[in-house]
Amino acid sequence: MPDRALPGAPAAAPPAAPDVAGGRIDCANVYKWFPGGIVLEDVSLTVEAGQFVCIVGPSGCGKTTLLRMMAGLAEVDHGQVSIGGTPVNGPDRRVAVVFQHFGLFPWKTVQHNVALPLRLAKTPRAEADSRVADAIRTVGLTGHERKYPAQLSGGMKQRAGLARALATAPDVLLMDEPFAAVDAQVREVLQEDLLALRDRLRQTIVFITHSIDEAITLGDRIIVMGTRPGHIVRDVLVPIEQPRTIAQVRRHPAYTDLREEIWQQLRQSAAEQAGEPVEQAGDA
Ligand SMILES: Nc1ncnc2c1ncn2[C@@H]1O[C@H](COP(=O)(O)OP(=O)(O)OP(=O)(O)O)[C@@H](O)[C@H]1O
Ligand SMILES: [Mg+2]
Repeated sequence: MPDRALPGAPAAAPPAAPDVAGGRIDCANVYKWFPGGIVLEDVSLTVEAGQFVCIVGPSGCGKTTLLRMMAGLAEVDHGQVSIGGTPVNGPDRRVAVVFQHFGLFPWKTVQHNVALPLRLAKTPRAEADSRVADAIRTVGLTGHERKYPAQLSGGMKQRAGLARALATAPDVLLMDEPFAAVDAQVREVLQEDLLALRDRLRQTIVFITHSIDEAITLGDRIIVMGTRPGHIVRDVLVPIEQPRTIAQVRRHPAYTDLREEIWQQLRQSAAEQAGEPVEQAGDA
């Protein structure tokens, strides 16, 4: 929970971090149907402003669908999704999305890809230029502004996608398997970058991943989803203090147990889905 001033307490010094009060996400009794049937059933989830939540769950359980509803890109069939207390009715400038496949336009340079949402929002030129330069510096791409996506490595493309999201100064950053397409080493570098960035920017972040390690490394909290239809089966706080590094996470005494607990939960959901008996830890 974010700290709140006590009534009557002397005014505190202004926080160094940006105001993210608008970044709280509320999903209340959310249902989603597609022509093939029900996809999400009674999903209720509150993400506090500034919290970093990772979502894991089997393929097809509705993670992307839930994220798209938070982004205003998919309709909520029943229930409500709100950002900062306002119901989501469509894409919102306070919310930025980063997808797995970067979403960069190949015919535009890094500079122009990052600037695109600001151009679409008709941000005045001088302000847009300065925000684009800041975002590019933040993700470590200074010097690569004039390159085209084809001239970038996978990690650099992902950084450019992140810069484009950050340039809009969103309250909420929604990330759908953003590091799944890069190799293991680059992925760790990007995770370290995101941990450091997160500490500075304090946005609310919802991050979908298939990697339990990645979820523990990055998240303040992990939501485990089950399938058929998609629902929340576990909501776990990661008991590892922020700021943190990957090495600190791996050495932390809670790491192995948490990893095992989430792994068991996912196996149990998969077995239930397949109608198989659930093996217990320690079974041969
Ligand atoms: N536009 C659509 N029309 C019909 N069915 C859809 C549509 N989008 C998703 N679905 C179905 O909804 C279910 C959930 O899809 P979703 O993409 O949200 O899953 P996911 O958890 O993100 O899976 P993955 O881990 O593979 O990315 C799937 O069964 C999928 O086939
Ligand atoms: Mg998905």
